[in-house]
Amino acid sequence: MQIAYFKSAKKLITGNGAVSTLKDELSRLGVKRPAVITDKGVSRSGGLSLVTDQLQPNSFLVYDDIPPEPEISVIENCVAELRGKDVDGIIAVGGGSAMDSAKVLAVSMGHNGKISALFGENNVSSRDIPLIAIPTTAGTGSEVTNIAILSDPEDQLKKGIVSEYLLPDVAIVAAEMTVSCPANVTAASGIDALVHALEAYLSVNASAITDALAIKAVTMIYPALPKAFANGKDLEARENMATGSLLAGLAFGNAGVGAVHALAYPLGGRYHLSHGMSNAVMLPHVMKANAEVSRERFVDIASAMKLEIQGHSTEDIVAQVLDAIEKICRDVEIPATLKHFGIPEQDIQTLAVEASKVTRLLRNNPRKLTVDEIEEIYRQAF
Ligand SMILES: NC(=O)c1ccc[n+]([C@@H]2O[C@H](COP(=O)([O-])OP(=O)(O)OC[C@H]3O[C@@H](n4cnc5c(N)ncnc54)[C@H](O)[C@@H]3O)[C@@H](O)[C@H]2O)c1
Ligand SMILES: [Fe+2]
Repeated sequence: MQIAYFKSAKKLITGNGAVSTLKDELSRLGVKRPAVITDKGVSRSGGLSLVTDQLQPNSFLVYDDIPPEPEISVIENCVAELRGKDVDGIIAVGGGSAMDSAKVLAVSMGHNGKISALFGENNVSSRDIPLIAIPTTAGTGSEVTNIAILSDPEDQLKKGIVSEYLLPDVAIVAAEMTVSCPANVTAASGIDALVHALEAYLSVNASAITDALAIKAVTMIYPALPKAFANGKDLEARENMATGSLLAGLAFGNAGVGAVHALAYPLGGRYHLSHGMSNAVMLPHVMKANAEVSRERFVDIASAMKLEIQGHSTEDIVAQVLDAIEKICRDVEIPATLKHFGIPEQDIQTLAVEASKVTRLLRNNPRKLTVDEIEEIYRQAF
């Protein structure tokens, strides 16, 4: 067995009404004047007031200017806005975009360096103030990961900042925060959560701990996602999605994600497809490529999905897992082809070269992919 570390937010608080613990957590962490970092979609939906209602009036600031899939400049503006205002803690309320921005903000408030210098692994030197994350999508799992993803417009790529200092002190995961999530965001972020679980389970860095989390995540997310998509007020489905996404975040935050994410990255960076959509469109094709080397793991996935398998051979099972993956993307109405998103066919070679550079993720993938194989996967997705 190889040595494996397990990283997470320091404290996880889950369940209905979990947001009511916020005041106690702030006082435990000594935070008197937090900044709530969120976006306009969340603040307009009413979800934000579930959080701010817990805080003393005039004891906090709200910054709600985070756009979806943020660029570096978003953090620079936010730092400039909040500096000198005695902020002593950060509360992230939102999907991955707001949470990732808040995570980078929390490590940037006390420093003057460029945000772009933080890209890569272990380039953050410290975090001076506490950080609490409250997800409103289910989800990215960002509330428990040591990663933040930002777009770098200079080379049209989405890039990761990886550092232990990005791990929140507390993650508060409550289904009621996700009820107002629009159906298209439920779909995209829900497939992202499923991909986290599947990629963590197939990762070469999977451990007994991440396996347990990933398989439980699949059993919760796979049946719940179409229900949460069809009826956003279905609280049971929302609960299974919120917890499933948390488990998937814990799994991939430690085992890593693989080629689905690596091939999705250039689609986000170049054509601004959302993270969830780019993952969804690549998912069936990368899974097919991975099936050749991970057959036994596909059998476990079939049983986590509770598929009623026709036939007995491993090939039969693998084929039906692949069908189930295509079907769930269809059920939540995510377009199945790159062509649908207007991606030009002549760009495929460039996309393959860009994806092949995402070695931080490709090295986790069970099958080592050459640039030609990556190009072939994009062609199948076209
Ligand atoms: N750090 C990580 O570990 C990690 C993992 C996966 C993805 N990501 C990143 O997360 C981002 C995507 O995050 P996302 O999929 O959660 O979406 P998002 O944060 O971009 O939100 C999408 C839209 O949904 C709206 N929204 C979110 N929750 C809502 C709610 N409860 N009610 C009403 N509107 C709501 C937002 O206002 C926004 O307009 C990408 O930048 C991606 O790269 C990070
Ligand atoms: Fe993801």
